[in-house]
Amino acid sequence: MTRKFFIETFGCQMNELDSEKIAGNLQHCGLEAAGDAAGADVIILNTCSVREKAVQKAYARLGELKRSKAVRQDLLVGVVGCMAQLEGERLLKRAPFVNILAGPQKGHLMGTLVERAQASPFPAVNLRMDEDPEPLENTQVLRASRWRAGITISEGCDQRCSFCVVPFTRGRQRDRESAHILREVEELVAQGFLEVVLLGQMVNAYRDPSPAGMSFAALLRRLAQIGGLQRIRFASPHPVGFTGDLLDAMVSHPQICNHVHLPVQSGSTRVLRAMGRDYTRETYLDIVAKIRRAPRPMAISTDIIVGFPGETDADFRDTLGLLDEVQYDSVFSFKYSPRPNTPALALGDDVPEEEKGRRLTFLQERQKLIQYNKNAAMQGQVLEVLVDGRPRSRFALSGRLTNNRVVHFFGPDDLKGRIAKVEITGFTANSLKGVRI
Ligand code: 5AD
Repeated sequence: MTRKFFIETFGCQMNELDSEKIAGNLQHCGLEAAGDAAGADVIILNTCSVREKAVQKAYARLGELKRSKAVRQDLLVGVVGCMAQLEGERLLKRAPFVNILAGPQKGHLMGTLVERAQASPFPAVNLRMDEDPEPLENTQVLRASRWRAGITISEGCDQRCSFCVVPFTRGRQRDRESAHILREVEELVAQGFLEVVLLGQMVNAYRDPSPAGMSFAALLRRLAQIGGLQRIRFASPHPVGFTGDLLDAMVSHPQICNHVHLPVQSGSTRVLRAMGRDYTRETYLDIVAKIRRAPRPMAISTDIIVGFPGETDADFRDTLGLLDEVQYDSVFSFKYSPRPNTPALALGDDVPEEEKGRRLTFLQERQKLIQYNKNAAMQGQVLEVLVDGRPRSRFALSGRLTNNRVVHFFGPDDLKGRIAKVEITGFTANSLKGVRI
């Protein structure tokens, strides 16, 4: 009987794509996707380690899987991705029932790891940090969507933000050759895909290793020439290196979505320096002003960490002030979480947990109001939505505008994966309501 696998993904868009690569390789090796964990012979947790909470979540899930294994001894459990890389052998001590342990970028080896785990009483382990770009060329991707595809353009990160664990889990930056990226996107468009999301830790640090030597902006321009490709997104650029050339590439190609995710992390120059972010509040605001002056309006979203070591009330007020000034379209905000190996560990963790919580709530409330007002201003506009569908409701559909806002509206199921025109008729702080026209 064909063995079945189920993958549970924690964390970022890159992890979502890694899971599709794992699934692709397992399918290639003769396994079949199960509809849920209960129907699977192999369960793989693709994990995140960016904050301690993500690690705890994975351990909590492992606790449940331990109980499943007690009644089903043939069940294989794998832990892969960033938390697996970071925890390493420590994880096997805490959860000795785990059969597979592998870091990120091991999707192309997953079938082999499952075979090894099956044949041995010992876990199959691969925690080698690949410096070799070869695994980036993975053609066995089992995509969850038929219209939107994540595309790896680079892996790893050479930026050393003092809070960030990613360099220790995904390694140094390796870029894919532009020709390979272009070929992959062309093939996807030929299969009917409408949107690609270019993924890398710091996409604007992309440097084509081939003689073509394309910059990120040049790659965007070239991708925009592919006929039939409706939407191009990317995540995420670093404020350092958000050049006029990149903005110009965006503005001159309407397929490139009206959205920039520009992580700021803090509005205080003092804190930014301690974070190793290489820009100041002022230089960040200069970039925002440049984006705001673009002839095509662009939504701007960001990531913010509250309670970084040494963050004072005054620093936090600088961050709140920045929210007022930038008027972000959306904000992902987090309490600082000390991570192993990171330089910020040496700074201690001196903002008390309750204070972090208070700052987070305060910031989120402030931002909610900003979004509420911004969304209110969108009423009456007629805009294009790439429809994703919503499995839980029979008639309601949802999709994204090019500015990345989610719109809910009613329509037939066959609109899924297509672009529909809707008039915006209602709103909350987090989404819009619309009527199809
Ligand atoms: N603590 C809290 N948030 C963090 N992030 C990264 N590292 C940490 C940490 N140690 C946040 C940053 C980043 C986002 C993906 O996660 O805001 O942009």
